[in-house]
Amino acid sequence: MSQDQGQGTNKNVTITDNSTGKQATFPLIAGTDGPPVIDIRKLHAELGYFTYDPGFIATGSCESDITFIDGDQGILLHRGYPIEQLVEHCNFLEVCYLLLNGQLPNPEEFQEFESVITNHTLLHEQLQYFYRGFRRDAHPMAIMCGVAGALSAFYHDSTDISDPQQRLIASHRMIAKMPTIAGWAYKYSLGQPFMYPKNELGYAENFLWMLFGNPCENYEINPIVAKAMDRILILHADHEQNASTSTVRLSGSSGANPFACISAGIASLWGPAHGGANEAVLNMLREIGNKSNIDEYIKKAKDPNDPFRLMGFGHRVYKNFDPRAKIMQQTCHEVLNELGITDEPLLELAIELERIALEDEYFVSRKLYPNVDFYSGIIFQALGIPTTMFTVLFAVARTVGWISQWKEMIEDPNQKIGRPRQLYTGQAPRFVTPISER
Ligand code: CMC
Repeated sequence: MSQDQGQGTNKNVTITDNSTGKQATFPLIAGTDGPPVIDIRKLHAELGYFTYDPGFIATGSCESDITFIDGDQGILLHRGYPIEQLVEHCNFLEVCYLLLNGQLPNPEEFQEFESVITNHTLLHEQLQYFYRGFRRDAHPMAIMCGVAGALSAFYHDSTDISDPQQRLIASHRMIAKMPTIAGWAYKYSLGQPFMYPKNELGYAENFLWMLFGNPCENYEINPIVAKAMDRILILHADHEQNASTSTVRLSGSSGANPFACISAGIASLWGPAHGGANEAVLNMLREIGNKSNIDEYIKKAKDPNDPFRLMGFGHRVYKNFDPRAKIMQQTCHEVLNELGITDEPLLELAIELERIALEDEYFVSRKLYPNVDFYSGIIFQALGIPTTMFTVLFAVARTVGWISQWKEMIEDPNQKIGRPRQLYTGQAPRFVTPISER
């Protein structure tokens, strides 16, 4: 493969097929940052080959203006703004506006956006009956998949994806209703009444109210807890083409309605290699139990014959510290301090586990660092959130990322139905023998 100067500032890549001597040239497209991509759309037509890239290790599936990650440097930008600055200067709804619209809102734009979102927080009353069909011990992520998908049966006036206004309303509805859906999933598991949203509250406060309030008494929202929740929502808001976002894009590429696509995204997020890791980290720390057992679990994580992995460690893109993990660790200390939790054995265990892993050759050589999920579970636990709800919180936060990416895809003139090819390794054509002769 050779690279030469192409038209304008762009370069080309020429591939030579050594078996036939045939050559084909493909454009090299540069983005704002990150490695350029080879546009191989004509590869099959020109050389008769497909590419093979299980897990999409080196495949760009789309063009996107939303989020940029530099995994080697540990950089995460939303619409060009570093995550550290967004956490410091913005609230979650400002970040939602940014992801959806490309710019941070001015005060008037923010007021209008906040009012639109707070006016869409209620769920259709009949959705309550939908919840009642679930077993009380259903995992809340199972309820989330079902109820988010069911929104398409309730909001017919925002499922026409060819109408920009309907796309926008669907986006606002998803962002607004997810905390209510999540709050009700939790209340259902407790056997407590569903709490209606209170529109005088901010987004994070309202979510806490629907999780922890009840109709019989006043629930005082702790501003420190609300601030921490808001920050956690920002940290999880988007992360470019991860598994769940790619699932949302692939589902949506067929023209499926946005509610169905978000439900597919929730299903993908649930897996322990993705958003389910925050729940898995806490379960792992509880299983390890105390510092004296760390070595045994590090050994298990390193053993190629043992499926155990250190949950909350490693990332497909980050080969350096996940910048979200750094902020999460700091938030974790702040929250525990503010709440007066001076002795948290799981935090001490996590810090020691991190220290040992970061000095271990296995983790160092593979560039395995703590990811966003490593510390979030400890904060959630301190906030009084049950373990099974951890991934639900991730889903609430990521909804804005999913819907922004979905909208971007629908509005992309190059958009096509996603249809990967394969390397077929099954049987060659053969004859069917009638059952009596087999
Ligand atoms: N513990 C032990 N070994 C690991 C781990 C880990 N957590 N992660 C990767 N490895 C090893 C892996 O065994 C392989 O070793 P070798 O080269 O000897 O075969 C090497 O590191 C590369 O791993 P990989 O599986 O090829 O990497 P990947 O990019 O396919 O997987 C990952 C990324 C996040 C799925 C993986 O690191 C993992 O399973 N981590 C634990 C689960 C987790 O914390 N997930 C949350 C990700 S961040 C939030 C989100 O995206 O939702």
